[in-house]
Amino acid sequence: MCGIVGILGVTSATPRILESLKRLEYRGYDSAGIATLEGGTLDRRRAPGKLENLARKLRDNPLTGNSGIGHTRWATHGEPTEANAHPHMTDRIAIVHNGIIENFRTLKKELLDTGVTFEGETDTEVVAHLLTRYLKEGLAPHDAFAKTLSRLEGAFALCVLISGEDNLMFGAREGSPLVVGLGEGENYLGSDAMALASLSNRLIYLEEGDWAELTRESVQVFDARGNKVERKVAISQVASTMVDKGNHRHFMQKEIFEQPTVVAQALGRYLDPNAGKVKLPDMPFELATVSKVTLVACGTSYYAALVARYWIEKLARVPVEVDIASEFRYRDPVYASDGLCIFISQSGETADTLAALRHAKEAGQRVMVLVNVMGSTMAREADVVLPIHAGPEIGVASTKAFTCQLSVLAAFSINLAAAKGMIDEAQEDAYVAELESAPKLMAQVLHHDEKLQEIARSIAHARDVLFVGRGIHFPIAMEGALKLKEISYIHAEGYAAGELKHGPIALIDEHVPVIGIAPNDDLIDKTVSNLQEIMARQGKVVLMSDDAADEAEHMFAYFKMPTAGALVTPIIYAIPVQLLAYYAAVEKGTDVDQPRNLAKSVTVE
Ligand code: G6P
Repeated sequence: MCGIVGILGVTSATPRILESLKRLEYRGYDSAGIATLEGGTLDRRRAPGKLENLARKLRDNPLTGNSGIGHTRWATHGEPTEANAHPHMTDRIAIVHNGIIENFRTLKKELLDTGVTFEGETDTEVVAHLLTRYLKEGLAPHDAFAKTLSRLEGAFALCVLISGEDNLMFGAREGSPLVVGLGEGENYLGSDAMALASLSNRLIYLEEGDWAELTRESVQVFDARGNKVERKVAISQVASTMVDKGNHRHFMQKEIFEQPTVVAQALGRYLDPNAGKVKLPDMPFELATVSKVTLVACGTSYYAALVARYWIEKLARVPVEVDIASEFRYRDPVYASDGLCIFISQSGETADTLAALRHAKEAGQRVMVLVNVMGSTMAREADVVLPIHAGPEIGVASTKAFTCQLSVLAAFSINLAAAKGMIDEAQEDAYVAELESAPKLMAQVLHHDEKLQEIARSIAHARDVLFVGRGIHFPIAMEGALKLKEISYIHAEGYAAGELKHGPIALIDEHVPVIGIAPNDDLIDKTVSNLQEIMARQGKVVLMSDDAADEAEHMFAYFKMPTAGALVTPIIYAIPVQLLAYYAAVEKGTDVDQPRNLAKSVTVE
């Protein structure tokens, strides 16, 4: 999703903005641009497509100036053309924006009526023209910016430069994240700590409705009513070195292979194997009193929530409700008294999940989050934060964050069961030991990746692929389908194996690969029977299992998995489905790390 950076500096801004935009690439984007201010005059370069296109333009036609703003755009209003790319400019200002101005049609009509002409179709341009109008009416920059903000509805993070104002930059945050970076004789704005990592580690996270007025020497923050406010300075832990791919061809591949290490790290924070116990951070409430758990998330994080439902209900016997964040608050959910709502989000910024969190908080629910980004909005607004410790995830398709989320959710489930008195110390010890074995088993699966490469080659040109599983592996089937769709653009669906004959089986013929996820648990026979039904209709079955080798003889392919208990199987079975998608995408030659149309941090509803 759109990324923003602004520098009010003392050395050439363009190369530094480009580097920050590079750090923001992971969010997903389809055009980019930079504007600088030199001797009071604004100038800009923009280009559709990758940053390299913008960099080429800048090489041919450089932009000078020590202050500037940059943007990576993920199209919402208007195609990813140069005209729609940010920064948007008038003869007075340059602006970059992340989010959606919901009342832009009304504002556009008002501006058109006064004779303003628009260059593109974006909602952002109305902000540019509104601010220009107030400046031309004679308002001072501070008042013109405040008045502009008062007219806007929706979600936005903005960053603005004004011609003739060499030592001034404005930023505003409403719904979309924006961070101020403090430098020595310089100050900055950025979408997140990652964007500013090479510039500053002293950050001010703006709160909802805040806006900031920056000079090189000062930063003033105002709240939505225009009152000057003090916000604390946080020290960012994000490394200033650029995350690289190591020896891997893609970030996604690197992140898949990192999983045994990061899962071990995450478990190390939550498990005490010597004591045979789970250790969670202190909580402002007693877990034993929790009457119901509501899990809410989007995308891959939602599938982690679906897996956790099985663990929590089975171990702790607490009722669990799971919902997609974009649906949750609009269905007017019934909250339980003493309910605990858990929001799962790698980025901690996903707009729908954040809105659901606020809905739950307003309803008086206890709010816990699992996030990968510690300075994120969700981490700052929750009652309890469980970091997942996956390290920066750059590939748009989530992999290591998913298995780290699962690991932390498994630890949480054990802890809740113990707090509720549903398991005794010996059982807790056994569950902790079981979970501890996950990294080793993950490494074993990764060791056989060439077999998955071979299978992936044979499904890479299929039009449709089905993934099936039962029980706790049904969400893994859905995650497998999502991964394949996201990066290889093959149509894929995940189904509960028993549900196939209620419709999807009509799709089966000799061209449709069906991936069966069937560890040797109490459901394996039923799942294998469903796979037989598919084979009887010429479906190409690929079985992933630690058993059923006999049946596998007649199947299209068999991937042998290590044997594990139910706290670990979803974690280790995530790997072969990730690799299958990865190798299928490589075979097809798609843009694995930044698949078309997708964004990593979805900050609009
Ligand atoms: C986007 C990403 C997905 C991710 C989802 C939720 O759609 O492309 O990979 O699962 O957002 O993101 P979150 O940061 O909330 O986990």
